[in-house]
Amino acid sequence: MENIQLISTKPEKWEYFKKNLSVSYEFINSKPGEAVDFSEIAIIAVDEIENIGKIPDAEKKRLPIVFFGNSDDFSTEIKVRKLGAVDFFYTPFDKELLMLRFKHISKMSDLSKFKTDNLRWMHTVKREMVNFQEGMAEVIAQTVESRDEYTGGHVIRTATFIGLLGEEFVEKEVLTKEQLNLIVRAAPLHDIGKIGIRDSILLKPGQLTESERIEMMQHTEKGANLIRKIQKRFASHIYLQYAYDIALNHHERFDGKGYPNGKKGKDIPFCARLMSVVDVYDALVSDRVYRKGIPKEKAFEIIFGGSGTQFDPTVLKAFDNCKDYLI
Ligand SMILES: [Fe+2]
Repeated sequence: MENIQLISTKPEKWEYFKKNLSVSYEFINSKPGEAVDFSEIAIIAVDEIENIGKIPDAEKKRLPIVFFGNSDDFSTEIKVRKLGAVDFFYTPFDKELLMLRFKHISKMSDLSKFKTDNLRWMHTVKREMVNFQEGMAEVIAQTVESRDEYTGGHVIRTATFIGLLGEEFVEKEVLTKEQLNLIVRAAPLHDIGKIGIRDSILLKPGQLTESERIEMMQHTEKGANLIRKIQKRFASHIYLQYAYDIALNHHERFDGKGYPNGKKGKDIPFCARLMSVVDVYDALVSDRVYRKGIPKEKAFEIIFGGSGTQFDPTVLKAFDNCKDYLI
């Protein structure tokens, strides 16, 4: 048996329905605006237009509303249908017709709930898959990082810093919140190409030779190629495009003297121009295999000294605004 919530100032008007439909439906009375538990309700019935507006919005979307009028006034029916009622009953009522229409409404409502539940379920599964894949990517990035104990935490710190720096551009409406979110999620993969660099080079305590330096520089292209392969499998993941742009271009310089392609100025993707600043800042202040980290103030001096040569001056202006929040 299904429950019908009657919302009316004159419950006596409903005696006819209670008497004729009580085999299939249970009627629950409430006054307009009264707090009601709709969790076990299948249909909401009202008999005054203004009462439709007193039904909570969430319940209006979820449950079918029927209206009972006492005339065949089409303008009233149009009004109540526009307010969200799915059916309109005029007096006098035919019991059989009433039952058939109530059954139809219940069936349509069940179908709609089934569709909504399915969509919700599909959305949850999709979200879980995305989380899993991103989590895996982050674990791989941290595994690469863990090969070099002196750079521990670089992946997480640079993702946090790029989030702080990017906020400056969200405020200026250069980036949307969604774009920044994708950049932050992509940032941990910036050095993923180091997975293809030999330990003897990656962990070398002294200066690299010229040929070793060239091999080390290849981590940008190796990383980009790896992300391209993942992208082919998961084409719908937009953050992978940001991950690709960052991995390939985070060692490019604003003056075109960087690597791997010597891109210049705005030819370097914006996300990579952000990454290049936070990557260098974290490298400077952190202990490395071959040297101790330098104090923050000294690192700021070096970074601001690279304005227009190594770094984008616009990015450095934003960096200056948020540098006090950096560790
Ligand atoms: Fe790098």
